[in-house]
Amino acid sequence: MIGGPVRIGALVSGSGSNLQAIIDAVESGQIKGGLVVVVSSNDRAYALERARQHGIATEVVRYEDFSSRREFSEQIAHVLTEYRVDLVCLAGFMRILDRVFFERYHGDAMNIHPALLPAFGGKGMYGHLVHEAVIASGTQFSGATVHFVTEECDVGPIILQDIVRIEDDDTPESLAAKVLQVEHRIYPKAVELYCAGLLTVDGMRVRRRSGQ
Ligand code: GAR
Repeated sequence: MIGGPVRIGALVSGSGSNLQAIIDAVESGQIKGGLVVVVSSNDRAYALERARQHGIATEVVRYEDFSSRREFSEQIAHVLTEYRVDLVCLAGFMRILDRVFFERYHGDAMNIHPALLPAFGGKGMYGHLVHEAVIASGTQFSGATVHFVTEECDVGPIILQDIVRIEDDDTPESLAAKVLQVEHRIYPKAVELYCAGLLTVDGMRVRRRSGQ
């Protein structure tokens, strides 16, 4: 574990650049919490290597090894509970969790999405597909959203968002790069606010109390 005292567990599937942003914010002291475990749904995810480089425990829970989404989600919740995780950060996690996960972590799990929710979210809207849909729609702004995770995919109280302007020559690739820069700024900030106890949820609205 690095940092402390809120015990953070991250769920990942890929490169883990958002995980890296959270690791850096823990190590710099911005986040008053500790990363106790990184759980990957993909045994070849580079995110696992990032975790190892920083001395953080890693676990692999592959969707393919379970006969249902419910069993997969139960195992994820079980592993996080074993590590006594308080806050779960989905950081490029490409699997949808069953409601059984939320029986344990309702209100204590957040996700980063590469667009301005509630637009361009939901089942099938992940990674590159999001940026393709955004560009095709002709909208002039995109951005990133950190939100609490609920049973319904990409529908949960929004904690932080920020925007990027889409230029005429933007492609899904160039937009993804710009949005990632925003993600790496707002995700650690949202985790910082949670760990400082400054977030209150009122229906779909997340209010931020001022710190001292
Ligand atoms: C990020 O852009 C994240 O917002 C997105 O996948 C990328 C993961 O990058 N997540 C989703 O699309 C989830 N619906 P990373 O592994 O480098 O953090």
